[in-house]
Amino acid sequence: MTALSRTSAPPDLAQIFEPIQQDLETVEQQFVRHIESRVELIPEIGRYIQNGGGKRVRPALLLMCARLGGYRGERATVYASVVEFIHTATLVHDDMIDDSVIRRGRQSVHSRWGNDITVLLGDYLYIKSMGMALTVDSLELVRLLCDVTRRMIEGELFQLTKTGDIDITEEDHLEIIRRKTAYLFGGCAQIGGILGDLSEDQQLALRDYGVNLGIAFQVVDDLLDYTADEEVLGKPVGGDVREGKMTLPAIYLLEKDGGRARALLEGIVRDRTISPDSWRALRGLLIEHRVIDRAYEKAAGFAAEAKRCLGQFPPTPELEALLALPDYVLARDR
Ligand code: IPE
Ligand code: IPE
Ligand code: MG
Ligand code: MG
Repeated sequence: MTALSRTSAPPDLAQIFEPIQQDLETVEQQFVRHIESRVELIPEIGRYIQNGGGKRVRPALLLMCARLGGYRGERATVYASVVEFIHTATLVHDDMIDDSVIRRGRQSVHSRWGNDITVLLGDYLYIKSMGMALTVDSLELVRLLCDVTRRMIEGELFQLTKTGDIDITEEDHLEIIRRKTAYLFGGCAQIGGILGDLSEDQQLALRDYGVNLGIAFQVVDDLLDYTADEEVLGKPVGGDVREGKMTLPAIYLLEKDGGRARALLEGIVRDRTISPDSWRALRGLLIEHRVIDRAYEKAAGFAAEAKRCLGQFPPTPELEALLALPDYVLARDR
């Protein structure tokens, strides 16, 4: 490990997703089909988003969990498309809120098309996702999807109320993460379990696996905001603190250093800007107090807990893939 970034190559996601590769291709085709509209702007932006090359972690998680229960029918790809639509809606709105101009290595939707179009496009994707879910006759799953989406929005709103508060507690911060990111991961895994007709116990174990995986995923995302190579990550680094968002590295740093670090963070958060000198100083303090390692250990704890949730499942290629995913999440660089 170098000072701020890890040097070993992350595991190959395509390899982990190999058992469900065909289904993922179907999800891509459905994405194109579902953004068709007589209002040409919608497929135009939709294609732009699709070609950006997201990782498709959420649909893959759902598909893999469905396979774990032996389900190979068509409903899995419908719900997999639904969760990617929900995720996409969140991202276009989130970038506008975070004033983040690059996503997946290209201009974010609001910076290219403006806020008015972006609000409506996000709304369109949300409502479309629910419409897609309703093409399958299961109100139970629509309810579940509404529930995780509502909690995600609550997480984003809760985060906004904490913006600029450099004394946010770790507990509140983790609650934001659970809501804005982890419950959707949990929902994906649980839906897979429901489709696979697994026992209630197993469905809940999958949900808990997904929630823990999602927390690890977001903690690592927040770490990458300090440590990543922007080109590889495909989105700007340093944006969180600049936007007044205190994530684990900053929270831990304040615990260790109430002097220089507090003054520095207060200044950045107040001015909503970060000079190259402040950024260098902040990164220096993160190294000095080893807080990146500590936050990484926290993520590793959730990743390990995710794996433990899978203890009751017999060994299959799908289980192996689900066990590999937490390691990928910890090692990812984009
Ligand atoms: C980004 O999610 C938003 C977070 C929850 C951190 P992803 O990292 O899954 O984004 P894409 O879809 O691969 O671009
Ligand atoms: C995740 O938080 C966003 C949502 C779950 C909506 P971030 O704001 O950290 O995600 P990125 O870094 O913009 O992808
Ligand atoms: Mg963001
Ligand atoms: Mg982020």
